[in-house]
Amino acid sequence: MPRRRWAKLVVFPLCLSPACWLAWRAWNSNLTPNPIEYITHFTGDWTIRMIVATLAVTPLRRILHLPGLIRFRRMIGLFAFFYGCLHFATWFGLDKFFDMHEILGDFVKRRFIIAGLVAFLGMLPLAITSTAGWVRRMGGRRWQALHRLIYLSAASAVVHYYWLVKSDIRLPALYGSLVGLLLLYRLVWWLWNRRAAPAVP
Ligand code: HEM
Repeated sequence: MPRRRWAKLVVFPLCLSPACWLAWRAWNSNLTPNPIEYITHFTGDWTIRMIVATLAVTPLRRILHLPGLIRFRRMIGLFAFFYGCLHFATWFGLDKFFDMHEILGDFVKRRFIIAGLVAFLGMLPLAITSTAGWVRRMGGRRWQALHRLIYLSAASAVVHYYWLVKSDIRLPALYGSLVGLLLLYRLVWWLWNRRAAPAVP
């Protein structure tokens, strides 16, 4: 089997393992005394981790001179969306029980819910247009421009986390620094290439 296939066969189960772990704990009725809270936090944690991992692929492949890493970006990005869907569904279905009155009340009372929704909705067009067919249909430049939405999602996810914690801001601060660093890298890279590129008459 080619090495590329092998690598994907390792990364895919690795990304799926948190969901399997959660399913295993649910199967064994081992989701702590407050299962909904546990699932919400677990899926929220994995969504933000996957978003940061998606953003880290391009800098890592340049810094480590591993161009092949690019083929994992779409998979990790889709896993971020997958965990985001689980997270949102937990809140919508298990926590609020599809009660529109409660859901709308949450939007008004808890500002972190709005930031979470911006982060989640920002990922939706990226997941839809993640196929090669969409890249062809949109053209590379437009597709790339749309996929910069991931930065909006990442920033909103950090705000969501920062707004929801009560006192200990260490983790949101850590994710905020990572997203900030990755954004800065992207900006410096873009400025550097613009300077180095010959002027087009
Ligand atoms: C990309 C989208 C999102 C990301 C990355 C994200 C991430 C997170 C994280 C990291 C946490 C805290 C986990 C912990 O404390 O261990 C969390 C909690 C939570 N999130 Fe999200 N979230 C997203 C979208 C949403 C959406 C759309 C909703 C609902 C509309 C939502 C509702 C909640 C709730 C209710 C909590 C628990 C708050 C509490 O414990 O008081 N999240 N989320």
